[in-house]
Amino acid sequence: MSDYYYYEPQHGHGLPHNPLNAIIAPRPIGWISSIDAEGKVNLAPYSFFNAFCYEPPIIGFSSGGPKDSQQNIAATGEFVFNLVTKKHAAAMNETSFPFEHGINEFEQAGLTMTSSRLVRPPRVTDTPVAFECKLLQMLPLKDLDGKATPNTVIFGQVVAVHIDKAFLKEGLFDIVAAGTVGRCGYLADYVEVKELFQMARPGE
Ligand SMILES: Cc1cc2nc3c(=O)[nH]c(=O)nc-3n(C[C@H](O)[C@H](O)[C@H](O)COP(=O)(O)O)c2cc1C
Repeated sequence: MSDYYYYEPQHGHGLPHNPLNAIIAPRPIGWISSIDAEGKVNLAPYSFFNAFCYEPPIIGFSSGGPKDSQQNIAATGEFVFNLVTKKHAAAMNETSFPFEHGINEFEQAGLTMTSSRLVRPPRVTDTPVAFECKLLQMLPLKDLDGKATPNTVIFGQVVAVHIDKAFLKEGLFDIVAAGTVGRCGYLADYVEVKELFQMARPGE
């Protein structure tokens, strides 16, 4: 029988590092571009990030405090999701530095901007995929006691999709060829998708 390490998070985990990030992993990374009310551009990675439904396509991420991305999206109602792949992994990491508001992380990380079509924030040039999004809802998270936490989940509806045709093989997005990167927790762990396996759902 397995021997389980047990803890109740409200009393601490008792381990060298919080394992949550390494357990809920790999996580897709939302590399989020946004602009403030004056049009100043911002770019930052968020791995408490996911898609929540197909129709309409809704994606979201959780901000641990009112960071620049959250404030910009609250002010302008728009953002862009950029897919992180191996070729941009180091640049993505650079854009996580807590630069002062108004500093353009594209420039700091040596990235170039490409204009979006339906929203004002630009997308990362040469990312295999970008989604243009409009803000749906900002959900401040409360705990079991109903007490406010610093975290807010930001949901957006995808209004435009860009996929580099080089990664569309017979109409299917080739995630291995793209080199999609996921976050694996602890300080520096990431994964690059290298291998897939297939399972049809029962009855299909
Ligand atoms: C891979 C990665 C994932 C991250 N995920 C999150 C996250 O989900 N939520 C969060 O608040 N910060 C996250 N961060 C930290 C932010 O990127 C960092 O605080 C950044 O400075 C925020 O930028 P902004 O103020 O321009 O929005 C992450 C950093 C990295 C490198």
